[in-house]
Amino acid sequence: MNVCIIGAGYVGLTTAAVLAKLGHTVHCVDENEQKMAALKRGDVPIYEPGLAELLTDYASRLFFHHDKQTYVQEAEVIFICVGTPSDSKGKPDVSYVNRAIADLTPHVNDKQTLVIKSTVPIGTNERIYNHLKNEGKHIRVVSNPEFLREGSAIYDSLHPDRIVIGLRHDDDRSLSVMQTLYAGIHAPYVVTSLSGAEMIKYAANAFLATKISFINEIARLCDAYGVDVVDVAKGIGLDGRIGPHFLQAGIGYGGSCFPKDVAALQQMAYEQNVRPYMLEATKTINDTQLNWYVQKIKRTLGHMSTKRIAVLGIAFKPNTDDIRESPAISLIKKLHAHGANVIAHDPKAVLPNVDVKQAKTIEEAIAQADALVVATDWDEYKQLNWAYVKQMMNGNVVIDGRNSLPREAIMNAGLNYIGVGRG
Ligand code: UDX
Ligand code: UDX
Repeated sequence: MNVCIIGAGYVGLTTAAVLAKLGHTVHCVDENEQKMAALKRGDVPIYEPGLAELLTDYASRLFFHHDKQTYVQEAEVIFICVGTPSDSKGKPDVSYVNRAIADLTPHVNDKQTLVIKSTVPIGTNERIYNHLKNEGKHIRVVSNPEFLREGSAIYDSLHPDRIVIGLRHDDDRSLSVMQTLYAGIHAPYVVTSLSGAEMIKYAANAFLATKISFINEIARLCDAYGVDVVDVAKGIGLDGRIGPHFLQAGIGYGGSCFPKDVAALQQMAYEQNVRPYMLEATKTINDTQLNWYVQKIKRTLGHMSTKRIAVLGIAFKPNTDDIRESPAISLIKKLHAHGANVIAHDPKAVLPNVDVKQAKTIEEAIAQADALVVATDWDEYKQLNWAYVKQMMNGNVVIDGRNSLPREAIMNAGLNYIGVGRG
């Protein structure tokens, strides 16, 4: 098929690479001229495992453009993958989606399928359909949310747990268009209304965020009662009804999706006079988790103003250079504000304008440090040689903000291990 993708961010680029791999011809359009020029040269603007390889392997079917008109006109399927950031109140800002739709309206025709992948508030797809109809365009509209995790976006796109397709009740063609498009990907289809698909996306992210906040609350209780939350997560996670995923306690969830989507669903609830007690709690726990942990670090280290603290991790999670809503950066800022001499490190992410130094190597970060904090659970941090770490450091405190380090090995090296809710 001939596909046009509007918006070459994380989702748009991953979708483009995967559809090219499945055999389609993909034209990616993005208003960011610099980004498109880089992609044309073969440079990949983000770090996402496997993405650069796919873009190279399928370069003969993948094209990058700045101007969209021709590619929209010629496409059988058009994807909208522009961002939907939150405004200051947590409401999703759909202005990029609106602009993309307004721009393409004159160029679309009734034979095409328009797929909205951007996460949009409930009712947006219906509104887009009606807008196009009022403009005399009877193009089919499909809501097809993504569930890919940064850091494993390609794998998640090729092996999804399900494919969610939202359709209008009188649309008898789009499902087979989407099945042709995704032929080669084996996953159950969930077919629902346009608004149903939008709600599934928000509910999925809200549920995952809730699991994290739940285990973070249990971690606080575990700390108070001298219990190890890792044992508790294992003990409950083996119950098939609960499941083992997203029960890793830590310094809270971040990224471009969970904070934004929980806040968005909350706002949508208020708009309908529904009190979202669960979402409020999920957000409150996440908003307070870092302060709770910083208090614990303070109790361990005493006065921070005399301390040199190495913070390992800047990205919001491992295997990405994305720093949007990164708890690691919030932690760095808080430790710095408490007067600590912070030196940060990340294998891929770059610290934005913060008055803190970023070390080039882990050694440089930990040399003479009084404490080492792991804020993002990259593999290279889990695999450190702890005897060597002990030698390099001035102090002996290892703070595991992601409960991902080998506690026994750290303690055997003569270091003091502080996890999140580990008793
Ligand atoms: C995506 C989704 O679309 C968002 O709704 C979801 O919740 C998270 O994933 P993401 O891919 O992370 O967003 O966004 P981003 O990396 O910011 O990329 C968006 C791209 O769209 C950018 O490259 C931007 O230049 C481009 N864009 C934006 C356009 O081409 N046109 C516009 O009008 C606006
Ligand atoms: C998420 C969803 O998983 C994905 O399905 C959706 O499409 C986009 O949003 P992403 O934000 O890329 O993906 O990362 P994810 O792996 O979900 O992690 C989000 C945050 O939660 C990270 O800060 C991570 O460190 C944190 N997290 C995750 C925990 O604190 N504990 C866990 O057990 C899992």
